[in-house]
Amino acid sequence: MSAFPVTRLRRLRRTSGLRSLVRETRLDLDDFVMPLFVGPEAGPNVDLPGMARHSVESAAREAEELTRLGVRAVILFGIPEEKDEEGSGAYDDDGIIQQALRALSGAGLVLLTDVCLCEYTSHGHCGVIREGEVSNDETLELIARTAVSHVEAGADAVCPSDMMDGRVGAIREELPETPIVAYSAKYASAFYGPFREAAESAPAFGDRRGYQMDPANVREALRECEQDVAEGADVIMVKPALPYLDVIRAVRERFEHPLAAYNVSGEYAMIKAAASKGFMDERQAAVESLTAIKRAGADLIVSYWTKELASWL
Ligand code: PBG
Repeated sequence: MSAFPVTRLRRLRRTSGLRSLVRETRLDLDDFVMPLFVGPEAGPNVDLPGMARHSVESAAREAEELTRLGVRAVILFGIPEEKDEEGSGAYDDDGIIQQALRALSGAGLVLLTDVCLCEYTSHGHCGVIREGEVSNDETLELIARTAVSHVEAGADAVCPSDMMDGRVGAIREELPETPIVAYSAKYASAFYGPFREAAESAPAFGDRRGYQMDPANVREALRECEQDVAEGADVIMVKPALPYLDVIRAVRERFEHPLAAYNVSGEYAMIKAAASKGFMDERQAAVESLTAIKRAGADLIVSYWTKELASWL
């Protein structure tokens, strides 16, 4: 390797044209998934600034606008009118997500759905409670039932986010042909805070550390991915993204599968809040963050900036 002054790395940074020729990582709207919250009533989402809460009707209008802007995919989250112990709104054929799927089916978007019980259970946990604990095996059937009802209503792919062991296999058994985007390495993270307020899904007691991953672990993330792949996952996911870029890189190096990363609500809200105080430029900080997630190895990114990205790119 030749040293300075033979080598001058600044040569290729001189103009924007030169920088663009040698850029290693690019953002492409085709790789982005926009989250949509659908509930009984439309309104602003105070907990996630810039993100609306949609009714079924307004979600359908939003889907048309997203398509017009060039967005290709959405992931749907439901906020049911009523919650119960068993999260029955999640697998109700006439539940909020099932209605939304039918309303959005003509929009030309790829429709992904989050498959979990936490937005639908009165206690806010991702599974059913038996003797004070989230019961893994009794939850599996309900998770699979939820996925089936989403597909029957028009989902193109299902995304289990509950972190029960065996959920991918349980869904795969019922749905041999549906793509499964598994939230494989999903950490018990403080960065979900704004989402839980928005989706009213904070656990009423305890926390999710008994089923979501310990932020300290990376080898365990590879084991989670291995399990999900063995059970039939098509896409594996790391979540959150920014504090876990090393995990994205490790999964990228180990697996050939398409890799998703979830740029979660806290990552988004943090930059929004800093930008609103004038501490940084939102667009620059967002594009830099998303580029970092791609550079780390993600193929597709779920991000609340997807809609704005459509006009930025
Ligand atoms: C449902 C779910 C959560 C998120 C996505 N799916 C919340 C959680 O696990 O507590 C978080 C998304 C975000 O923070 O943007 N289990």
